[in-house]
Amino acid sequence: MVEAGGRGRRGRTVIGGGGGGREPGLRRAVIGGGGVGADGDWRRRRSLGRSLRRLAEAARGVSGRARNDGAERRGLAAEPRCCAGRCAGDVTTQVALQPALKFNGGGHINHTIFWTNLSPNGGGEPKGELLEAIKRDFGSFEKFKEKLTAVSVGVQGSGWGWLGFDQEQGRLRVAACSNQDPLQGTTGLVPLLGIDVWEHAYYLQYKNVRPDYLKAIWNVINWENVTERYQACKK
Ligand SMILES: [Fe+2]
Repeated sequence: MVEAGGRGRRGRTVIGGGGGGREPGLRRAVIGGGGVGADGDWRRRRSLGRSLRRLAEAARGVSGRARNDGAERRGLAAEPRCCAGRCAGDVTTQVALQPALKFNGGGHINHTIFWTNLSPNGGGEPKGELLEAIKRDFGSFEKFKEKLTAVSVGVQGSGWGWLGFDQEQGRLRVAACSNQDPLQGTTGLVPLLGIDVWEHAYYLQYKNVRPDYLKAIWNVINWENVTERYQACKK
C-alpha cells in the first residue's frame, strides 16, 4: 500500500513526510521528503526528537530523576540532567538551570560550612585575632551577638544569617541571605559563620519560635572553626 505525506503503518510505503513512527518495532521505507532507505534518516530523526524533548523538559524544570525514570521505562540509558545542556551546547538550557544551580549548589555550600561551624563542645567567646576584630567592627562581642541574632531572626521566610569578611575593606560584616543563596556569590563577603534559619533547622526542638533557637545556638558555636576561616581569608 502507498500513502502520500503520511506516517507509515505496518506494511506500507510512505511517499513524502515520513515522520517518526510510534509503533514499536515499526520499520518503514520512506520515498521522498524523508529520503530513501530510511534507517539513517530514522535514527537522525529519533536523535533530534530526543534532543528536543530534553530541552523541553529542562525548560519545564523536569527533574533528572523524573526524566531518568521515563528513560528507563522506555528502555533507554538514563543520563544526568546536565547532559542535555552540555550535549546540545544550548545556552538557553544552561541559563534555565541557573536557579536550580543556585538553590541546590548554595544549599550544599551553606550546609557544608554550617556543620563545621557547630560543635557539641562549642559556645563561649572567640579568642585572639577574631575577638579583637569583632570588638573593632561591632564594639563588643555582646553587640556582635545581638546584631547577628537580630539579622537572623529578621530573615523573611527561609534563609541564613551570616558573619562574613569583607576582603576589600578588611572588616567583618553581618549579613542575611534568602533561601539557599550563598553568601559569597550573593554579597562578595567570605563566609565565616552561618546560621541556618530555615524552619527545618529548629522546629523539632523550638517549634516555630525562631528567637529561642537563635538564643540557644550560641552554646554550640565552634569558634575554633570560625577563627580558622577568618585567618585563612584575611591572608
Ligand atoms: Fe538547612
